[in-house]
Amino acid sequence: MKIDAYLVPYFTEKDSYYEDYAFVMIDVLRASTSIASCLFNGAKEIIPCESIDKAVSLYSTLSKESRVLGGERNGTKPNGFDAGNSPNDYTAELVKGKTVIMATTNGTQLFLKFKQSKHKYICGFVNITSTANQLKKVIEENPNLKGIIVICAGTNGRFSYEDTICGGAVIDMITKDYTDYSTTDSAKLALSLFEQNKNNLEAFVLNSQHSKYLQSIGFEEDIKTALCLDKFPVPVHITGNSIKKAD
Ligand code: MLT
Repeated sequence: MKIDAYLVPYFTEKDSYYEDYAFVMIDVLRASTSIASCLFNGAKEIIPCESIDKAVSLYSTLSKESRVLGGERNGTKPNGFDAGNSPNDYTAELVKGKTVIMATTNGTQLFLKFKQSKHKYICGFVNITSTANQLKKVIEENPNLKGIIVICAGTNGRFSYEDTICGGAVIDMITKDYTDYSTTDSAKLALSLFEQNKNNLEAFVLNSQHSKYLQSIGFEEDIKTALCLDKFPVPVHITGNSIKKAD
């Protein structure tokens, strides 16, 4: 089994290449974290959208009682939205039983990719153990699986520390139980970033570029939430156009 990591969301293979892989999609700050928060607090599903316009138009087709509109542009809540991209916006009071339509800058774009793949999971530190356990289940149940691809959303197409270190952490958890696997150079890099900084995670992530930007616009609390290991312990998968709690 191959363990690969895409440290930026750039894919060169034909779609058919990806069919036999399981994906772990990561946007620690903050889409993965907010989505895990939504599902932990009882949202029925999240529908990711690539643009604000698409999100607004989909939202307008749903009944008032069943919908929530969330997301960000430049980190802040767009006009008319019910919630921004802070994990703490998605309280049970707001989302329980509802469909959350979400548009964020990098995360939701990534979550819309690889529509042909059956095994796609969204991971942050807040649901990392649940994600790793779910992947182990997928590995056991699918002997023909060629491998796991960790994909980091990054920031505007660029590498980000927080996604890569979370990728390293999930690779560490998955590989502990297996001997028959190979890791690519990028997976090794993610793993070594995690190994070097695992005892100093908060200081490391607080120093990342996107984290500094979020702090500058008043979202320091979100970074702390995003770093709480297993705070929202739900495995999150993407099925068709919808993001749901995995069984
Ligand atoms: C994104 O999807 O680009 C983000 O999660 C950005 C953010 O809100 O911090």
